[in-house]
Amino acid sequence: MYQKELETAKRAANEAAKIIRDYAENESFGVELKGKNDLVTDADLASEKKIIEVIKTEFPEDQFLAEESNTYTRLPDGRIWIIDPIDGTTNFAHGFAPYCVSIGFWIDGKPKAAVILEVAHNEMFYAVEGEGACLNGNQIHISDEREPSRSLVATGFPYSMFDLVDPYLKVLKDLMQKTHGIRRAGAASYDLCCVAAGRVEGFYEYGLSPWDVAAGALIIQEAGGKVTDWTGSDNWLFGRRIIAGNEVMCSFLKDQVQAHFSEKDLEV
Ligand code: IPD
Ligand code: CA
Ligand code: CA
Repeated sequence: MYQKELETAKRAANEAAKIIRDYAENESFGVELKGKNDLVTDADLASEKKIIEVIKTEFPEDQFLAEESNTYTRLPDGRIWIIDPIDGTTNFAHGFAPYCVSIGFWIDGKPKAAVILEVAHNEMFYAVEGEGACLNGNQIHISDEREPSRSLVATGFPYSMFDLVDPYLKVLKDLMQKTHGIRRAGAASYDLCCVAAGRVEGFYEYGLSPWDVAAGALIIQEAGGKVTDWTGSDNWLFGRRIIAGNEVMCSFLKDQVQAHFSEKDLEV
C-alpha cells in the first residue's frame, strides 16, 4: 500500500535535491534569520515550493504542513504531507554535511510513508507502514546493541532558546561517561535515520518541530525501533521532546533526561 505516495515523495525529494545542489555549487544564496540562529535560505524556499508542486500534481486534494509555510498547530484528520525542505539549514549554509529533505505522509494522525534524502551523500532512506525501511534500496535495521556503555548516542544542542541549557549539559555530561560518545550531526531527520540504520543506538532532543520528526519516526519504527516523548508516551510529533532507539535505549535515555529535567520540563 501507499506505493504511489512513496514514489511521489521520492521524486519530490530528488527534484528538491537538484535545486539544493545547484545552490550549494553556486554558493550564492540569500540567508535570512527567522529568529536567533534560525536560518532560512533561498534554497529552503525553492525546495519547499518544488516538493509541494510535485506532490500536488499527483494528489491535488491533500493537505500540507511544511516548515516554511507552517499551516497547522495540530494535525488535522485526513491525508497530510509533513515537509522539511532542508533539515540542517545551518549545516547547508556553512557547506557542512549532512542536510536532508524530509517528507512524511500521514493519514488521520498516523504515519504511512516517509522519505528522507541526505543531499550531500545522496543517501535515500524510506519506509512504508508495515513494509520495513530501506536505504538506497537495501533493507535497514536498528542496532541490536542493548548495553548503553557500548552505544553511540545522537542529539541536538539548544541553539536559540537557552533556558534549558543547564539540564541539557548535565545530561550530556552523564552520557559522555556512560556511553561510547555523543554525536551532534546538525539535522534531526538524519539523526533519526542513523538510529534506523544502526549507526547510532539512540537519539534524544528537545525543541523539535513536526517536520523534523514526521518522516524519521516511521523509518525508525519500520526498521524495528521505537519512538517516544520524554515521558515514554507517544506525544512526540507536536510534543517537542523525542527519544528513539531500541526498547532498552529508549528506557535508558528516558531515565537520563528524567534525572536532570524538572517534571514541568518533561511534560508537554
Ligand atoms: C534543525 C535541525 C537540527 C535541530 C534543530 C532543527 P532546520 O532543523 O534538525 O538538528 O537541532 O532543532 O530546527 O532548522 O535546519 O530545519
Ligand atoms: Ca528541521
Ligand atoms: Ca528546515
